[in-house]
This record gives sequence, C-alpha cells and structure tokens, in this order.
Amino acid sequence: MPAPQHYDLLIHGGSVIDGTKAPRYQADVGIRNGLIAAIGDLTGYSADARIDASGRIVAPGFIDSHTHDDQAVLSQADMSFKISQGVTTVIAGNCGISAAPLRPDMDLPMPLSLIESPPENRFTTFAAYLAALRQTPASVNVAAMVGHTTLRAVTMSELDREATTDEIHAMQQLLEESLQAGAIGMSTGTFYPPAIKASTEEIIAVGRPLTKHQALYVTHMRDEATLVMEALEETFHIGRELGIAVVVSHHKVQNHANFGRSAVTLPFIREAMRHQCICLDCYPYTAGSTMIRTDRSMLDGRVLIASSVPHPECAGRDLDAIAAEWGVAKDEAARRLQPGSAIYFLMDENDVQRILAFDETMIGSDGIPVGESPHPRLWGTFPRVLGHYSRDVGLFPLETAVWKMTGLTARNFGLQGRSTLKVGHHADVVVFDAATIRDTATYEAPIQPAAGIDAVIVNGVVAWRHGAHSGARSGQVITRKPATTRASA
Ligand code: ZN
Ligand code: CU
Repeated sequence: MPAPQHYDLLIHGGSVIDGTKAPRYQADVGIRNGLIAAIGDLTGYSADARIDASGRIVAPGFIDSHTHDDQAVLSQADMSFKISQGVTTVIAGNCGISAAPLRPDMDLPMPLSLIESPPENRFTTFAAYLAALRQTPASVNVAAMVGHTTLRAVTMSELDREATTDEIHAMQQLLEESLQAGAIGMSTGTFYPPAIKASTEEIIAVGRPLTKHQALYVTHMRDEATLVMEALEETFHIGRELGIAVVVSHHKVQNHANFGRSAVTLPFIREAMRHQCICLDCYPYTAGSTMIRTDRSMLDGRVLIASSVPHPECAGRDLDAIAAEWGVAKDEAARRLQPGSAIYFLMDENDVQRILAFDETMIGSDGIPVGESPHPRLWGTFPRVLGHYSRDVGLFPLETAVWKMTGLTARNFGLQGRSTLKVGHHADVVVFDAATIRDTATYEAPIQPAAGIDAVIVNGVVAWRHGAHSGARSGQVITRKPATTRASA
C-alpha cells in the first residue's frame, strides 16, 4: 500500500457537481500544486488545510463568458464583484472593446471609454497587456479578445465611415500580432456608433487572421430589436466566410414590439448550428446596461442612470425623475448626462427565461465594473441563475445551471484543463449551499455579495472564504487551444 497522500487543500464531505451536466455525487476533492489531485473518498488523508463541505455543493469555478473586466483585472485586481459569486475566470474584450492595442495619446470615444483607466494602463500591444496581467495577476483567470472597435479607433482617423483597404491591412496586422500574443478571438460591437459604419465585408476582411488561428468571432450584433434576424444572419455569414466558431453575445430581443421573438430566433439558431459552430450567452435580467444613448428606442422603457461624467450626482436615479426636476424632455436630459452609462428596462421576462433555458446558452454577466450604481448583474449574475432561476423558478436542474457556466463555456471558448472537476485540471473550485445561494444585488443596492457561497478557490489558492476576500491573487492568463471535438455536442 502506498503511503497516504498529502494535499495542500482537502475539501471534504461535499456533493460534487463536476460541470459536465452529470448528476452530483458524494466525494472529497484533494488539491495539490494548484491542480486537482484526487476526487473520491479521501478519509484519513492529511492536508495543510481543510474545508468542510458537508451539505454543500462542490463545483468548478464559474467562467463569466461576457465581461468588460479588461481594465478591472489590473485596477481592481481583487475582483471581489466576481470572486464573491464564484467566478474564477473572466472572458474580456467583448462588444468590440478591448484594453489593447491603444495609443497613449488618443481620445477614446464611447463606448471604449467605458472601461477607461489611468493612462499608464494604456497598452500599445496585446502582448504588453497580457504581460502586465502575468506580472501583477488578478484574483481571477483571464482570457481576452481583441475589440474590432478598438482596432478601428487606433487605426482610423474618423470612425463614421467604412475602413479603407490600407486601414483594413493595418487592423489585420494588429489582430494577427494580438492573436500571436495570446488573444483568443475578436469581438465586434456594430451596435455602437464607432463601428456602425463597418460593413460585413470590412469585418470579414479584418477578421481574416482568425481563420488560421481558429480563434473566435464574438459579437454584440448590429441589431437586437426589429432587425435581429438579419443581424443573426450577418453573424452566421461572417462565421462561415472565416470558417470559425461565432458567439452571439448577450442574446436578447429588445423593445416592446419584439417581445416574444425569442420563439423565432432560437429555432433559427438551432437550425444554423447543424451547419456551423454557433455559441450564445445571456444574462439573467430584463434590463440591459450600456452607454447613455438616445437613439434606437433606448429610452422607451424605464431608464436608470448608472454613471454620468458631467452629473455624477445623478447615478442611481431614474431618468424620468431627473428630466422632471430639470424641466426638460427625457431625451434632452439623457443628452445632458452624456457621457455616461445607464440601465434600460427593454426586455420581456418570458424571452429571458426562454433564452436562458435554451440548452446551448452560456451564462455571461456583461457587468460594467464602473461607479457606485452598476447594473446588479455585476455582482449577482451567477447566484441569480443558480438560486432564482434554477432552484426557485425551476428553469433547469442545478447540474445544467453549473454546466452553463463551466463545462459548456470552456468547450466553446477553447479553455481546456479547467472548469470541469477532473483529476489533473486546474483547481478552480467553488463551494456553495444549494439551498441558500442567492443574488442579493438589486437595482437599488447593486453592490452586494451573493449569499450562500462558502469558498472560492483559484488555481488551488483560497480567494474567498466566510464572506470575505483572502487577498490572494492567483489568477492566470489563459490562451486558447482549439479542441478538435468542440463542434460535436
Ligand atoms: Zn454588448
Ligand atoms: Cu458587453
């Protein structure tokens, strides 16, 4: 008999939900050197530290498939808003916005300035950005994409037109360099003014280097309202032209006239999935959040101001109340509050539930880590899916909920060796109470850690325990290794 093995950390007595959608089972989890060393009955084994998980779920750390944490992972490196909900990996560089490549002297248009940071955190190359992250790690792992809007802003003299051939070549070269440095894909945000004029052909041309790297095309589509079907078609067309997987970010159908249309978009997506690799994600709320804008019927529903540069005192207030106080129309008040960000109530609960329940939908927060009044999704997305939607509404079993934030996401983004609980995998682990896990962040009080999270472990190191951050910053930079089987399921 070999001598009993010794672990750095032993999580004992819990129910393992392994992130593959398999039913839970009783097992202890032994961690050594940042990796999962054993799963099974580890009674009698010694360990430097132990976590009693009796009556608790032991799951892989969650992956946030859609974030704007590009700068936060450096400037708010403890990442409490994510760690506290069990998130151990974030995908950054979404909606066309990334932290690199930028020029130190350039002015950033909205929405690029949404994730603005001190000028010393401006990175002229993607390699420099990832090097900074490796040198001063965050509490979470980071996989990052290049933003097409960022490429436009750094390359083009004006953004209200299509790119020229020379500009396209310059963007291709920056994309190629970034992919070589470890970027996992390119995102677009053709919904936003600085990229609205980019044609389908421009995106395909700029995206050419993605093909060779089998990197991802991820998009905040041109339209998520009346023209949502056309936008889906454009997205799939780009994926086919480039021969790569596409991710439809934060899938939604917004504005009252489009309520119910997820009953059409989802079958359309499912049919297209038979011919090409298509992924999608969703956040579990009926309100979205982005820059303050007055077009696109964005002001049709209730609007809450999240941040405003000229009027910081208006953060957290209803636009209607501000407009009444100022004695102006709603859109005029919105213009006076620019630049800034707002929360828009533009979706129907039935659509949100239908999209969340769609078997291929991943969970991504789309949280914007800025200011005192963010959308509650920044702190609440993952416990809201586990507690509210899985347990309380009964939308899907807990095993499915966990899979939508771990195994499915890792498969789609090509993040191997983590996010399912398996011997040899990186030890990103969350211990939570299935009976009490709950989002506590609300629109009124959005900065609130989740209830029911016992412990969060990143690469074998405890980052969150007993409701508090340990101070550990053991996150790694993750680069992409395309799997051969990812298109199969
Ligand atoms: Zn977006
Ligand atoms: Cu986004």
